[in-house]
Amino acid sequence: MTEAAGTATSLATLEERARARPEAFGTGALIVCESLVRIYQSEGVEVQALQGLDLLVRTGELVAVVGASGSGKSTLLAVLSGLDVPTAGQVRVGEWDLMAMTARQRVAYRRSTVGFVWQQTARNLVPYLTAAENVALPMALAGRPRRARRVDAAELLDVLGVGYCADRRPGQMSGGEQQRVAIATALANSPQVLLADEPTGELDTATSADVLAALRDVNRDLGTTVVVVTHDPGVSDHVQRTVAIRDGRTSSEVLRRTTTRDDGTEHTVAEELAVLDRAGRVQLPREYREALDLVGRVRLTLEQSHIAVHPEHARTDGEDAR
Ligand SMILES: Nc1ncnc2c1ncn2[C@@H]1O[C@H](COP(=O)(O)OP(=O)(O)O)[C@@H](O)[C@H]1O
Ligand SMILES: [Mg+2]
Repeated sequence: MTEAAGTATSLATLEERARARPEAFGTGALIVCESLVRIYQSEGVEVQALQGLDLLVRTGELVAVVGASGSGKSTLLAVLSGLDVPTAGQVRVGEWDLMAMTARQRVAYRRSTVGFVWQQTARNLVPYLTAAENVALPMALAGRPRRARRVDAAELLDVLGVGYCADRRPGQMSGGEQQRVAIATALANSPQVLLADEPTGELDTATSADVLAALRDVNRDLGTTVVVVTHDPGVSDHVQRTVAIRDGRTSSEVLRRTTTRDDGTEHTVAEELAVLDRAGRVQLPREYREALDLVGRVRLTLEQSHIAVHPEHARTDGEDAR
């Protein structure tokens, strides 16, 4: 568009454009991470654990975050749990601005809004307390009366299918049972969000599937929003939405949808989508880049329904030069 044409744009057109502008990033989402950066300094070496991560989670969603070891998963959960403060970016959970909380607000946030399950089964539970006492402990810290604590703890253990473990100490339970009790403990004060960092990392495959099923039950039956982190890409078979993080950034998502065929039978389709970030960046899969030898500069062309990426010296007139 030329300068003259630009200035000739009528007021009505501008107003129309302003109205059509998409709403602010994250409007309506429960968890909003925008361009999150977390840099660790250790012995003069700088590690960028999060490099401009964007993530939106709606109320009631169950999202799995997958990524290789070192991709920034634990850093992300530490930020969301209020344990760690990012170096830059924006992060909000419900009404809480996690960049701007005072120490006192941080304690309130951790007690009321989020529940946490760690990978190490031993870290989740107090070893000399029974399952029921473990679940009741956060309730006591929140000032709930003793009788209510007993009733609620028993109910939570039932929801997680481990009511029969109420009087056992962690050492008297299997790894899977301990993680279910840990989930019940994390839910003690009815948090809006349950965060789980590799909760199945120390379990065998069958028990892992079991614990994931428990997280799904919690999400469906109690309506708790769940973010579960794992290095196991197989998790995408079990949840509706899987977000992949690579090098401290969300790179792609797998969405599973259950549809009904004409004959009434249900089937599930999984679709992998790349994530376009706020700055317009998208990560091209390595196989695609290698197949066409894409390195350094590439040529982009806007087609009617898509954008094409060509090697720098390829012809760009029309689709492929056939
Ligand atoms: N406290 C820390 N000090 C220095 N580097 C850290 C610290 N915590 C994590 N890192 C580094 O940040 C990167 C991301 O770590 P992390 O979030 O633990 O990844 P993941 O949980 O996906 O394995 C890694 O390179 C890790 O070595
Ligand atoms: Mg980790």
